[in-house]
This record gives sequence, C-alpha cells and structure tokens, in this order.
Amino acid sequence: MISKEDANTLKSLSAEEGLRFLSGKFSEGIVFSTSLGQEDQVITNMIFKNQLRIKVFTLDTGRLFYEHYDLLSKNNSRYKTKIEVYFPDPSDVEKYVNEKGINAFYHSVENRKECCFIRKVKPLNRALENAKVWITGLRSEQSENRENMPIIEWDEERKLFKYNPLINWNYQNVLDYLDENNVQELSLHKKGFISVGCQPCTRAIEEGENPRAGRWWWESSQKECGLHTH
Ligand code: ADX
Ligand code: SF4
Repeated sequence: MISKEDANTLKSLSAEEGLRFLSGKFSEGIVFSTSLGQEDQVITNMIFKNQLRIKVFTLDTGRLFYEHYDLLSKNNSRYKTKIEVYFPDPSDVEKYVNEKGINAFYHSVENRKECCFIRKVKPLNRALENAKVWITGLRSEQSENRENMPIIEWDEERKLFKYNPLINWNYQNVLDYLDENNVQELSLHKKGFISVGCQPCTRAIEEGENPRAGRWWWESSQKECGLHTH
C-alpha cells in the first residue's frame, strides 16, 4: 500500500527516481502499460536500464500498425526481455465483428467506444488484476482531460494507485531523453504520427495541429478510449 508519505515522496522525485523508489519498496504488484509511444519508450528504458522489478505489458488490440510489432520485437532484443502481451477475448471480437462489421467503429461513437472497450479496456483490466500500482506514460499537456491529473492518484474504479511519472514533462523533455539515451521509437513518428493508437483510428497530423488530432479524427467528441477516465 502506498502511504501518504510515499505519495509525497513520489511527488518530490524525478521520474527515474520515482520508478526506482517503487521497485525498491515493492517486490511485486508494480506494473507498467506501454503503448510503445514515445513517452512509454522513455519509461521502458528507465525500467530496463535500472533492472527494476516492474512488470511491463502491452495491449495488442489486433488492429495495431506493423511498426508496433517491429518495435516490440526490437525492445525485447535490446532489453533481453519479453514484454507481456494481452489480447482481447476472441469471442468478444468475433461477436462484435460478425454482428456490426469489421470497421464498425467509423459508424458511431457508441460502436467506437464498444470496440475500444472490447479490444483495450477489458484486456487492460485483466492485466491489472492483483496490481498495486499502475504506471502510465500520460502527460498533462496531451489533452484537456489529462490537464489536472496528478503524478500519483488512487483509482477507485480499479482499486489501485496510478502513477504518472511523466505527467509534468513537456514534449521536448521526451524527445531529449530519447535522444540522449539512444532509445528506439516507432518509425511512424518521422512520418507525422505523434500520438499513435490503432491503425484504422490514427492518422498523421499537419504542422500546427494538436498532437491528438490524429486520433479518432472523424469524431468531435472527447478523444479518449476509456483506459483513462478521470
Ligand atoms: S489512449 O487512451 O488515447 O489510447 P494514449 O495512447 O494517449 O492513450 O496512451 C496513454 C497511456 O495509456 C500510455 O502511456 C500507456 O500507459 C497506456 N496505453 C495506451 N494504449 C496502450 C496499449 N495499447 N497498451 C498498453 N498501454 C497502453
Ligand atoms: Fe477499435 Fe479503433 Fe478503439 Fe482500436 S482505437 S480499439 S480499432 S475503435
């Protein structure tokens, strides 16, 4: 359990120090979800470079880019590890696709949210079973919904602490870390993709556009998939 004191300590530490602190304090139950995006590549590097006792996992929705698999494989080689992969329940996907259509998420926000629920949220909840602390790569700059997220918070719905070590980092901080530590990243970033999700739901952005403008670009509603409700 994270005490009030621990939470205050985490607030005063850098991202790397905070990850070390958690791994030193708990022998199990600390988990990190990586989408293989730039922020997550920073945290992945911090975890493996310091050989921290933190389980790293990713959610394979079945609709990712080829580049995700390439980077996952490169990470596993570089860090001599096997990042755990969680898949959706095949019966959920079959039912959804056969009843609604393979690309039904374009037809309504409701369909889109259901697809995200089946392919992302349910597998995430499975991955978080028995976890005490869930680490994410969220940054407050990314969206309105994330603006007021604290570095550490109690997630009442999932009954665990959520630790967002990069919440106060700006995009340049992320780029500098990746460069200084020679960290590999999705080749898509060089092609104008900044925030990257599933392939059918992500497009490259134009100069000056919000980095998340390329996610579910056909929708005008709040662009979140349900992993991070706040
Ligand atoms: S999303 O909610 O819009 O999809 P975003 O791509 O910004 O999220 O990523 C924010 C954080 O959510 C990541 O740092 C990561 O911790 C988690 N996350 C998002 N997608 C995945 C995924 N496919 N697998 C594991 N974690 C993910
Ligand atoms: Fe489905 Fe698109 Fe959500 Fe991926 S991002 S789970 S394809 S709706």
